[in-house]
Amino acid sequence: MKPVFDPVQYKITTKANWNTVAPEYHYNWANDKVGPFKSTTELVKVADIQPDDKVLDVACGTGVVSKEVSQLLGRKGILIGIDLSRTALDIAKRSIAFPNANFIEMDAENIGFNFKFDKITCQYGIMFFPHVDKVLRSIHKILNPNGKLVVAVHGLADDVPYFSIIMKPILKYIPDIRAEGTPTVHRFGNPVELKSEISKAGFLDITITKHEFVYEPGTFEEYWEDYMRTTANSIRGKIEGHGKDTMSNIKQEARKNALEYESNGKLSLPWTILIASGFN
Ligand SMILES: C[S@@+](CC[C@H](N)C(=O)[O-])C[C@H]1O[C@@H](n2cnc3c(N)ncnc32)[C@H](O)[C@@H]1O
Repeated sequence: MKPVFDPVQYKITTKANWNTVAPEYHYNWANDKVGPFKSTTELVKVADIQPDDKVLDVACGTGVVSKEVSQLLGRKGILIGIDLSRTALDIAKRSIAFPNANFIEMDAENIGFNFKFDKITCQYGIMFFPHVDKVLRSIHKILNPNGKLVVAVHGLADDVPYFSIIMKPILKYIPDIRAEGTPTVHRFGNPVELKSEISKAGFLDITITKHEFVYEPGTFEEYWEDYMRTTANSIRGKIEGHGKDTMSNIKQEARKNALEYESNGKLSLPWTILIASGFN
């Protein structure tokens, strides 16, 4: 029987995981020239940042969105980034020179500010919030009238093979790897469901756009190594606990799944992203 999802334990694991992987995530991924992170420029464009805006970047991580936002703010503009991971926040702080920026350790499910924002951004964050309805409602309350929320999420499993090539065989050989109900990265990949979730929180004029990027992780071996070390960091111990044969079966099947994306020994993985925006 699958274990039951425990949101408190999940958050503890999420925080520990991001504290471990944040440096590598920052240097290998969080760059607006890299595959799915090309969404950063799109998201910031949709946010329509004005020089005097007060901006909150929720689950800011190592600051890829915050950095682009900060470059559009003027002397009166304010930028606050919040995240669960101290390590990620420290990297964001070091890499962003804007004087009115502040990076605070805060759970998005317990946002607390005694002033309001003009824009709130959240890139690849909402899928990690077990009580996303609560987060969106509290974001709605701390936005000024006509304030704007912009979020980016990953597409469905078949549209983001980077995750599914390896995750499908993991789930086949170890079906209870995750507790029933654990949030997945594809949780908001359906635009209709994403829109409905944002609308339920009270946002108006919601717009969703679909973007296709390509990620080139190198050879299959390079992709596998990187995935296991970073993306699968929080479940790698459990996979290894099933023994070498299981690991080898998973790898063989992932190898087969990857073939359709391989040319001259290198992988080229399509990556669908949704960007949603809504007004207060
Ligand atoms: C995929 S990263 C995205 C980071 C950044 N927005 C970016 O685009 O690079 C997900 C981030 O969500 C943060 N996170 C997960 N759950 C959170 C929560 N409940 N409250 C705040 N941050 C959270 C993690 O610590 C991690 O930094």
